[in-house]
Amino acid sequence: MSRLYIYYICFMSTENAIVMSGIRPTGYLHLGNYFGAMRNYVKLQEKYTCFFMVADLHALTTHPDTKELKSNVYRVIAENIACGIDPEKAALYCQSHVHETAELYLYLNMLAYLGELEKTTTFKDKARLQPDNINAGLLTYPVLQAADIILHRATWVPVGKDQEQHLEMSRNFVKRFNHRYGNVFPEPMAYNFGDELVKVPSLDGTGKMSKSENQLATIYLADDDELIRKKVMKAKTDGGPTEINMPKPDYIENIFQLMKLVSEQSTIDQFEKAYQECTIRYGDMKKQLAEDMVTFISPIRQKAIAIQQDERYMQTIMEQGAEKACASAQKTMELVREAMGLVY
Ligand code: TRP
Repeated sequence: MSRLYIYYICFMSTENAIVMSGIRPTGYLHLGNYFGAMRNYVKLQEKYTCFFMVADLHALTTHPDTKELKSNVYRVIAENIACGIDPEKAALYCQSHVHETAELYLYLNMLAYLGELEKTTTFKDKARLQPDNINAGLLTYPVLQAADIILHRATWVPVGKDQEQHLEMSRNFVKRFNHRYGNVFPEPMAYNFGDELVKVPSLDGTGKMSKSENQLATIYLADDDELIRKKVMKAKTDGGPTEINMPKPDYIENIFQLMKLVSEQSTIDQFEKAYQECTIRYGDMKKQLAEDMVTFISPIRQKAIAIQQDERYMQTIMEQGAEKACASAQKTMELVREAMGLVY
């Protein structure tokens, strides 16, 4: 029986599977994060023990200036809650509040080889982007990430494709640890949402919405109503179909795809029919999409702002999250020190 299959069985049969994921507080959450991650996290928290973390320490590898860190951490936590993460159900916490992370990171560093760290795609990319600050934290970024995950002995890590190499490295560190010191950690796997994963195209007809690329082609949860309208109205279109039942060019397909995320079925049907009959007016379609987008996003934005501004609530939430994460971390670290023979 393949190992993957065994994992699958374990996962399907254990009600108490542990899920862990993290997000760096270095950018704004956008529609792609919402439909690609947040919405699914909200479902996961109903079924599993979930640890959702704001990776403020990882942020230091690229953003050593901490002036804006606090407000960014607050924003990400508030946006998570506004999207439906329930701090009563999941542990929603800040990486730097769990000091055990640093200890485990230290031990794992002794099991990580310079060669493999230097070969990591994200390291190479970031080193190229910041040639004057190729710090050791950047190099050992995947080790810190492995520590985040296995600190809770998590098996499922819901992340995007760009994190697959980091997960593979986490599994390697786990294998080395278990081999040398005894079985303490399960091997973490990428949690794949399969069919539930929807594509959120960018507004300029190229690729998906993403954190860093063309800001005008990405809709952020923090965008105000006017900005959302402006971005949607700028989306690429053309003179319209010239023949009945013509296949749609990608950038038009994208607009329909975005409508599917936020508009009523009857609205989509109406524009679909107009397209097929060549009577569609893209200006009207974008106006409709903009309004539906505003209706969808503005309650999330307003909720996030209200939460962020409530300093007392923010503090309570972070303490509550840290408490859960630390309890789990402390249990693991006892096993780790014991396994490593660091108990004298
Ligand atoms: N590296 C992840 C990213 O860039 C963030 C992250 C930090 C993370 N620790 C994690 C993701 C642990 C999953 C699990 O998005």
